Amino acid sequence: MERAHNDLGGGIAIDDLSDGTMVTGRVDGEDAILTRCGMEYFAVGAACTHYHGPLANGLIVGETIRCPMHHACFSLRTGEALYAPALDPISTWRVEVSLGKVYVREKLNPSRRPTKSLGIPSTNQPSSVLIVGGGAAGLAAADMLRREGYSGPVTMVSADDAPPYDRPNVSKDYLAGTAPEAWMPLRGAKYYSGQRIELMLKQHVNLIDPARRTVSLADGRQLEYGALLLATGADPVHLPIPATGGARIFYLRTLSEARAIIAAAEGAKSAVVVGASFIGLEVAASLRARGIDVHLVGLERVPLERVLGPEVGTFVRELHESHGVTFHLGNSVTRIEGKRVTLNDQRILEGDLVVLGVGVRPAVALAEQAGLAMDRGVAVNEFLETSAPGVFAAGDIARWPDVHSGNRIRVEHWVVAERQGQVAARNILGLREPFVVVPFFWSQHYDVAINYVGHAESFDAAVIDGSLAPHDCEVSYLRGGQVLAAATISRDLRSLQVERSLESTR
Ligand SMILES: Cc1cc2nc3c(=O)[nH]c(=O)nc-3n(C[C@H](O)[C@H](O)[C@H](O)COP(=O)(O)OP(=O)(O)OC[C@H]3O[C@@H](n4cnc5c(N)ncnc54)[C@H](O)[C@@H]3O)c2cc1C
Ligand code: FES
Repeated sequence: MERAHNDLGGGIAIDDLSDGTMVTGRVDGEDAILTRCGMEYFAVGAACTHYHGPLANGLIVGETIRCPMHHACFSLRTGEALYAPALDPISTWRVEVSLGKVYVREKLNPSRRPTKSLGIPSTNQPSSVLIVGGGAAGLAAADMLRREGYSGPVTMVSADDAPPYDRPNVSKDYLAGTAPEAWMPLRGAKYYSGQRIELMLKQHVNLIDPARRTVSLADGRQLEYGALLLATGADPVHLPIPATGGARIFYLRTLSEARAIIAAAEGAKSAVVVGASFIGLEVAASLRARGIDVHLVGLERVPLERVLGPEVGTFVRELHESHGVTFHLGNSVTRIEGKRVTLNDQRILEGDLVVLGVGVRPAVALAEQAGLAMDRGVAVNEFLETSAPGVFAAGDIARWPDVHSGNRIRVEHWVVAERQGQVAARNILGLREPFVVVPFFWSQHYDVAINYVGHAESFDAAVIDGSLAPHDCEVSYLRGGQVLAAATISRDLRSLQVERSLESTR
């Protein structure tokens, strides 16, 4: 990134724009980026439409730009958000070349682009699309169906009581009290009617009949479908801990569960969080932000060790300790009586509330009942099709053939779920696009964001470049000398570069 306050309308010398470089500046009162791809020039908005990530610190790949924060990908030519987590386009401007200078002229697309017209015969399209699940994958799929020009009925059935929302924030700023309610919905109420997406909330699908192409709701109603997307996500694992005396025990998956924790946190002095993985740790950080004493109990000796290795795990523990979290590692909870939480070594902790974050299980009951092929999740092919014709699966439930590792994998990442929803939507419309995305997730601990790209089910070496203490490093996870994944702290561009290089390993 160079030259922060250029007047892009006033022209930039062509010599200052080599292939693939970016010049930032202002146009129409907006921050914008001017870039060159081969012999073409593009001007686009500088802020990502997900969480305003600075695109100028991102990566240009062909005619696209990728956001450094959570890897959204936009077309430089049209501004379209090609890949989640951003769903809305960035601005684009017309560019003119004259007398050795590039000028950014008028804005091309101030509002959402019209939908594309599908290049496949409408007879090949399903008569209707039913999506079971109103989470990451479900919404991204509905959105993509309309973006691709599908005009048939789209229905999204969700057991949740809230329209699709920003689930990762449920354990982060929202729980900490630093993100307002307004940030949580992924789409405003008018979006659904405007896009003709029927959103059925608080409705549980009980049964699928793939032969008759119907689903049954808990209230007895039956819905027909032309194509079905299963995106039922995951459910928190519930521990059978004996609890008496009005113990206040919470799990965290939904917005209403977050609201319940927030209500319990009002006036609370202490909390016990059970589970030292991502959600438990994020909950601990959010409760600390509310000034609550936090005791964190976990079976593992080092938090996150299995995924991130011992060095990063120790760093994360020390980071939380420096913010006042007290760890009880190598421990489990045996009993909760009122505010008294008893550990396996008989120690007693005091908690006005107890939050259990001990992992999730993919919500596969429906798929099992429907007789779909299972593989520690719902088995899908590279097009995210299940074993039943016209039935697709995406998100936390789907195990797919990963072209990069050569293994069938299932992950629980927000961006992967959304991107699978998008690809499944295109395949529902007959576009036959294989899912080849390199997995990505992020986790936030106070002011430290950890970005993880790739997938290492296991690794035999974790090589650190840089240093964890000043929050500036890249940790590569290798097996047999091959890099499978990398975690970065404050090295967002590197994370994008690693993603790019992993994309080429097939
Ligand atoms: C607190 C929290 C924080 C997270 N933070 C991060 C993060 O920082 N980074 C990251 O990469 N990932 C994060 N994740 C994981 C991420 O949110 C999930 O991977 C993602 O939401 C999965 O999307 P999905 O569409 O598969 O399922 P979900 O988003 O869980 O949606 C599932 C939907 O299906 C509905 N449903 C289920 N069964 C039925 C049924 N029978 N009938 C009708 N509806 C049904 C549910 O009500 C829900 O609407 C976090 C998860 C949680 C819980
Ligand atoms: S801010 Fe750009 S992807 Fe999140």
